[in-house]
Amino acid sequence: MSLQIRFSDRPLGHEILGINTAGDIAADVFAEIEAAYDRYGVILFRNQHLTPEQQIAFSKRFGDLTEYTVKQYNMADHPEIFIVSNVVVDGKPLGMVDAGRYWHTDMWVTANPPRGSMLYAIEVPIDSNGEARGDTCFASTAAAYDGLPEDLRKTIEGRRAVFDSEAYFMSRMSRTPKDPITGDYSEDVKKRMTQRSQNVVQHHDMVKVHPRTGRKSIYFSEEAISHIEGMSVEESAAVLEAVRAHVLRPEYVYRHRWAVGDLVMWDNISCLHKAIGDFDLPLHRTMHRTTLASLVPNKAAA
Ligand code: SIN
Repeated sequence: MSLQIRFSDRPLGHEILGINTAGDIAADVFAEIEAAYDRYGVILFRNQHLTPEQQIAFSKRFGDLTEYTVKQYNMADHPEIFIVSNVVVDGKPLGMVDAGRYWHTDMWVTANPPRGSMLYAIEVPIDSNGEARGDTCFASTAAAYDGLPEDLRKTIEGRRAVFDSEAYFMSRMSRTPKDPITGDYSEDVKKRMTQRSQNVVQHHDMVKVHPRTGRKSIYFSEEAISHIEGMSVEESAAVLEAVRAHVLRPEYVYRHRWAVGDLVMWDNISCLHKAIGDFDLPLHRTMHRTTLASLVPNKAAA
């Protein structure tokens, strides 16, 4: 079989046609899907009907899974599924309400971040004009690496950036609104503040080589990097801003408009992503995410 693909007009975000991810997928067909995933970084399947077990089973075809580090939003009976949701049931949030609302790679707090993630749309917010809200944007850091201006490439190649969870947390809290009546953070935010992991610092190569394809990509996340090794904070800030501006050039970015039943998977080395928070209750957005373990085993828990 030769896989049918509807290509987007960007390097990533291509739709794989005619596949039921809940069904039996023959080994040769699966190999083509995996090759497309490796090659393009973001692929998607529309009109899927997946129970949590089926999503986990399809995800496991790609290898081991890893649980999301903030455990309180992992599904109780299927901890491999991390719930992203703004729905509140009996006063309790169903999932993390504001997951991924900045340009990032998943779980940069780990020494060897996950291979990728798979997000399945259960509920999609539709506004009064009938338009879907809560898009997810993806940027190809592989295509961005290929298009790097020579001077910026020379500046970052061989360098490591210092990812610092405390710096990220402080930056994130400065953007988190307090309750206008109590003047304090919500109970959910306070719980997360007390549960957050101890300060984690990871030194990541700014250019990572993909373990399966050998292709180079820029490794970056907004707000997470305190500085670049061997550079002052000021010097680092200028370089990081140049990297950010380059990676987010429109030609490298695909914006996914969700419909219920979409299953989107992204490679965590060759792209960045960002969730757009342009909706609120009573509109509901609920997604189930599985996370594919790193292809390079983590030596120490991080
Ligand atoms: C994530 O970063 O895993 C969440 C993305 C989204 O909800 O669109």
